Amino acid sequence: MCGIVGYVGKEACADILVDALRKLEYRGYDSAGIAVFEGEKIKTVKAKGKINDGLVARLSEQPKLYATCGIGHTRWATHGEPSDVNSHPIGNGRVSIVHNGIIENYRELKAFLTSKGYGFESETDTETVAKLLDYYYQGDPVEAIAKALDDIEGAYALGIIFREHKNKIFAVRKDSPLIVGKGETESFIASDVTAILEHTREYYFMERNEIAVLDESGISFVDVHGDPIEKELQIATWDVAAAQKGGYEHFMLKEIFEQPDAVRNTVSPRVKDGMPDLSECGLTEEKIRGYKNIYIVGCGSAMHSGMVGKYLIEDLARIPVIVDIASEFRYRNPLVSEGDLVVIISQSGETADTLEALKLSKKKGAETLAVVNVVGSSIAREADMVIYTNAGPEISVCSTKAYAVQVAFMYMFAFAVAYARGAIDAEKCRQLTDSLLGVPEKIRLCLDNVSGYQYVASKIFNADSLLYIGRGLDNALSMEGSLKLKEISYIHSEAYAAGELKHGTISLIEEGTPVIVAATQTALWEKTLSNVREVKSRGAKVIMICRESAVLDENCADYKVGLPEAEDMFLPLISVVAMQLIAYYTAVQRGCDVDKPRNLAKSVTVE
Ligand code: G6P
Repeated sequence: MCGIVGYVGKEACADILVDALRKLEYRGYDSAGIAVFEGEKIKTVKAKGKINDGLVARLSEQPKLYATCGIGHTRWATHGEPSDVNSHPIGNGRVSIVHNGIIENYRELKAFLTSKGYGFESETDTETVAKLLDYYYQGDPVEAIAKALDDIEGAYALGIIFREHKNKIFAVRKDSPLIVGKGETESFIASDVTAILEHTREYYFMERNEIAVLDESGISFVDVHGDPIEKELQIATWDVAAAQKGGYEHFMLKEIFEQPDAVRNTVSPRVKDGMPDLSECGLTEEKIRGYKNIYIVGCGSAMHSGMVGKYLIEDLARIPVIVDIASEFRYRNPLVSEGDLVVIISQSGETADTLEALKLSKKKGAETLAVVNVVGSSIAREADMVIYTNAGPEISVCSTKAYAVQVAFMYMFAFAVAYARGAIDAEKCRQLTDSLLGVPEKIRLCLDNVSGYQYVASKIFNADSLLYIGRGLDNALSMEGSLKLKEISYIHSEAYAAGELKHGTISLIEEGTPVIVAATQTALWEKTLSNVREVKSRGAKVIMICRESAVLDENCADYKVGLPEAEDMFLPLISVVAMQLIAYYTAVQRGCDVDKPRNLAKSVTVE
């Protein structure tokens, strides 16, 4: 949801800003721009479109910029369509800003500023902040920022420059992420540390309403009264290579192939004496025994991983688990209360609805456990307990390895809960944990079947619509498979519980409609086959994702995607690779921009 960068140092900064923006393009890519100190003026260059198509082209038409300080932005439109004028940076000759978030009271601010004689060019909420800063500015930027913050309602991360304060950047945030990077002779602001990793690994987290001041001499932090604040320097553990494509055609492909390592990094460090050990976050057996209900809340793929968790936990531990979409949970007055555990799942740790669901759960007295990938993210810091999923940076908008590690953690969590509550004994718990440790190798085997996935893609890439069906854990898997395909190939698809199909959705099947069937659960095999026959006899083209060893007659499936042998319970985690790669190769065959699908952004920091 918009990426922000800023640089001050000794180098010409236009290229540095553009490079950093490229690394944040996953946050939004409908337009991009930079504003730099050129001579005594602020020079702004911005354009609609992806960075390379719009901004870079526009910069190449200009005389070279030698400025050594500036701010930049890549946008995901919320207020106002993608256009040159709605692109950031936004401001006037005196003040220019980049913004991530939403200014909720922008209408009132606009009315107030209009009454003071200000005109507005763009349709953005951001412009009200730029003009408000201009209105309050009387020589002291911190004073102007403090006054503006008093008036603003909503979520924001802001990078601000004032013409009269040459080569200085001011930055402030509330609810939208922002870090400040510290190099040897240069300083940065960025929405996320991957943007600046090739320059420095040292950075500060910004807290609400702290104001960062960056100039050639370094970085300082003040509060809204201008009093200095001491902050602790953080060191990023992610390396530059992790944030680059490393020879793969797309980040998505690279991230799919990183899944064996990612799952191992999530699981292995948390196994002690063959048992799952979640004590690092404070989740003791005693606590687990005490919870009345478990809620799992997230958005998109994160919520789908929670669906897998629900099946596992209820089956193994016999405790009710309620899975919810964060945007629904937070507005439906959920029954959650003291004595409940709310597990909040989020790759980025910044998803606005998920963050609010977390805050609501705490307010209602529940204990909260965040399962997040990005260290130090808002959700990680807000939750009572945190588990980091150790997947490394996920750049592709479409989530793959981050989903896999969330699911991997769901297994560990389910085992731990089942054991603590006496539903399984230590021997069973060890055996399950041992099987989970073997999953990365099975995922690796699944990755070998590239030609199989490409073949399936060649059979579906022309389809207008298709269905994904499955039962039980396979239903949860189908939901993720369908989402992958929709996100990146733009083919309409629906995931349906296989047994429910005949209650309406089967009417969509006509001659040649592709149906992807997940059939990994032995106990449900016959039932699923009946559903397959129902669609097959109505003309469906069936692609079965099932064990390699499964015997299928031709009345059943047109094509089989074979999976390695594994216990039923673990197959959804292994076979998601097939779902991901089918979606990937389909999108490639359709010529789609796999890593940056239309209309989407990776980190959704608005409601
Ligand atoms: C966006 C992404 C999805 C992701 C969801 C939740 O919609 O496009 O891929 O699953 O947000 O993101 P989170 O960072 O909270 O896991």
